[in-house]
Amino acid sequence: MFSVALLSASCLLSSALAANITIYQQNVSFVPTPLPAPGPASNFDAIINQFNQLGRSTVWNLVKKIPFEGDNGEPEGMVNINEERYIVSGGLYTNTTVSYGNNTIINGTDRTPGAGYGYLAVFDGQGKRIAVATLTETAALEYHNGGIDYDGQVIWATIAQYRPNTTASIISVDPTTLEFQDLIHYNDHLGGIVHDIQNQSLSTLNWGARNGTVWDLTAKRDPYPQFSQPRSVVHNPTFFVDYQDCKFLGHSQTYDYRAVMMCSGVATYSNNVTVGAVAIVDTETLVPYSEVPLTMVSALGTPITENPFDVAIVNGKLRLYFLPDQHKSTLYVYEAVQNSPYEY
Ligand SMILES: *[C@@H]1O[C@H](CO)[C@@H](O)[C@H](O)[C@H]1NC(C)=O
Ligand SMILES: *[C@@H]1O[C@H](CO)[C@@H](O)[C@H](O)[C@H]1NC(C)=O
Ligand SMILES: *[C@@H]1O[C@H](CO)[C@@H](O)[C@H](O)[C@H]1NC(C)=O
Ligand SMILES: *[C@@H]1O[C@H](CO)[C@@H](O)[C@H](O)[C@H]1NC(C)=O
Ligand SMILES: *[C@@H]1O[C@H](CO)[C@@H](O)[C@H](O)[C@H]1NC(C)=O
Ligand SMILES: *[C@@H]1O[C@H](CO)[C@@H](O)[C@H](O)[C@H]1NC(C)=O
Ligand SMILES: *[C@@H]1O[C@H](CO)[C@@H](O)[C@H](O)[C@H]1NC(C)=O
Ligand SMILES: *[C@@H]1O[C@H](CO)[C@@H](O)[C@H](O)[C@H]1NC(C)=O
Ligand SMILES: *[C@@H]1O[C@H](CO)[C@@H](O)[C@H](O)[C@H]1NC(C)=O
Repeated sequence: MFSVALLSASCLLSSALAANITIYQQNVSFVPTPLPAPGPASNFDAIINQFNQLGRSTVWNLVKKIPFEGDNGEPEGMVNINEERYIVSGGLYTNTTVSYGNNTIINGTDRTPGAGYGYLAVFDGQGKRIAVATLTETAALEYHNGGIDYDGQVIWATIAQYRPNTTASIISVDPTTLEFQDLIHYNDHLGGIVHDIQNQSLSTLNWGARNGTVWDLTAKRDPYPQFSQPRSVVHNPTFFVDYQDCKFLGHSQTYDYRAVMMCSGVATYSNNVTVGAVAIVDTETLVPYSEVPLTMVSALGTPITENPFDVAIVNGKLRLYFLPDQHKSTLYVYEAVQNSPYEY
């Protein structure tokens, strides 16, 4: 392996930042060319139709289990590109956050900043690393890279402080070079981003997915790093799981042409019961239209929906992709094989 700071022609665009990239497979492209269409948004009606036939009694068949190379720290988001490439967002932490204790709030938040850096890692279809790009400076306050989405041209990501009610940046990454641009700065934590191309808007979630925000990409903004205000902020009406990673689906007739995304997440309740689920969620109101609990755990005991997630239609069938474990991560790919005729 060798490290390069890629300086390409697109650096001439004033705001493109050269990523700090470590290459593990030389002469292997980060993504296929031409760039494929995004799987979830290209097949949203089939995904919605099949998802709405699932239930609590659905039997899930593990169709692929692929160990991913390297120490992935805490993986947070994932984009599957035709099972040829998996792009993973995450963070490697060099100092932990520490609670102020006793419900103490200082400057609006409840813990020390910790330290680390956010990355995007590109894996091939066999889980071998192709490249890892570091997206943050060493010692940056914002280093938590959350859930990601791919719209056919760019990868959307958020780099936030690793604590509630703080600050975050929305970035777009060119998947062919892993160069990125800081676009929007906000005075709350952000993650779980998706891009609605038709509406020219982004939707993001804050800490624990308690609030959803919608960003108008056509709106005039003060230049980064000045804070911007979203088009709307809504409070999440549901508390069963905290969504971590979402994929934009589309404006489906099933939901009166409202924009919907699919989100995956977990929540641990006060009795220490952890619930994981995947849901179809309105990108503007966060109202869940359809939710399916998933009880699978990884070989290391992590709830399957804990962090990165993607969805695709492969040979006509719905597939769900999960990468739950920290450090030594394994990709789990499931298909629904059997539904009970009774919905319990
Ligand atoms: C580049 O990223 C690596 C980790 O992938 C880090 O160790 C190194 O310090 C970074 N270099 C710069 C110049 O930021
Ligand atoms: C990579 O490609 C370049 C130009 O195509 C070639 O000169 C070089 O030998 C290749 N390197 C490897 C490791 O395959
Ligand atoms: C790690 O964070 C703690 C606060 O929790 C701080 O006291 C300490 O100085 C930090 N260590 C480094 C190396 O930054
Ligand atoms: C929390 O409060 C209790 C009682 O009020 C006190 O004994 C304890 O030292 C406090 N802990 C911290 C970390 O401030
Ligand atoms: C709170 O914010 C103030 C002003 O920005 C800063 O000086 C102070 O260090 C912060 N306190 C902590 C504990 O981060
Ligand atoms: C967030 O922090 C700000 C100060 O930075 C504070 O005024 C506000 O009450 C906090 N909001 C929540 C929901 O904790
Ligand atoms: C969440 O949204 C509500 C309005 O719906 C707002 O009052 C609250 O401050 C927001 N929370 C944060 C942390 O910004
Ligand atoms: C799309 O954008 C327009 C404003 O340009 C807005 O009124 C509308 O509600 C948005 N949402 C959807 C789901 O189309
Ligand atoms: C939940 O787990 C924590 C840590 O393992 C433990 O301290 C606590 O007592 C548990 N709470 C309940 C209600 O079981």
